[in-house]
Amino acid sequence: MRAWEEMDERFECFMQKYPDPLPDWLLAIERKAEADEVPIIRRSTQRYLAFLLGIMRPRRILEIGSAVGFSALLMASFDPSLEELVTIENYEPRVMTARANFAASPYADKITFLNGDASRVIPTLEGTFDLVFIDAAKGQYPDYLTLVRPMMKPGGVILTDNILQDGFLLMPKEALCRRNRTIHKRVREYLDMVCRDDQYITDVLPVGDGLAMTRIR
Ligand SMILES: C[S@@+](CC[C@H](N)C(=O)[O-])C[C@H]1O[C@@H](n2cnc3c(N)ncnc32)[C@H](O)[C@@H]1O
Repeated sequence: MRAWEEMDERFECFMQKYPDPLPDWLLAIERKAEADEVPIIRRSTQRYLAFLLGIMRPRRILEIGSAVGFSALLMASFDPSLEELVTIENYEPRVMTARANFAASPYADKITFLNGDASRVIPTLEGTFDLVFIDAAKGQYPDYLTLVRPMMKPGGVILTDNILQDGFLLMPKEALCRRNRTIHKRVREYLDMVCRDDQYITDVLPVGDGLAMTRIR
């Protein structure tokens, strides 16, 4: 899938010549994450989130996979209607950095940061969410969907990142190594769940590493 990766990289570079709406403190978190090789959403995904949140204006957001807090803070900064953003992370070194980043930000009072395995934390949450952003263990995407669905009302939106897996999703499983086959199978299972069930309307955008966009009917 080299052609895919090359096109994606060229497109990201091309778009970097346009100004970014990020405040300096958030740019600093992005640069530090990149320097530390922490995987965070790409610029094209950031722009898409800015666009979507501007239209949706969700009041309550759930993020699965905070890393160091970059995308959570980005979403908070884009959404003046936000009342609460709940975000979950289980990798201890990132938990400490995320906690510090949230505390130092202007959105500390709107962000509820939960440390733990998402599969255990989600069932403890109360209330409903207008938007769920899934960006954690790819092999667990079907489980996350099953867990979050009861917390969403009609009209709610689920965004799922890294769906295209640098183009691997489109390849036959025989062409992949064993580890990638498991993720490939689970991500395809996730897509089957959101594309074949009438309760959802779903499309996949070739934004960043592939963003599945699902609305609850
Ligand atoms: C791609 S990163 C998230 C990036 C972040 N959303 C951003 O763009 O700034 C995925 C994160 O999910 C976390 N993660 C993976 N499996 C998890 C789980 N079962 N529960 C909670 N967090 C998990 C990883 O430790 C990692 O930091």
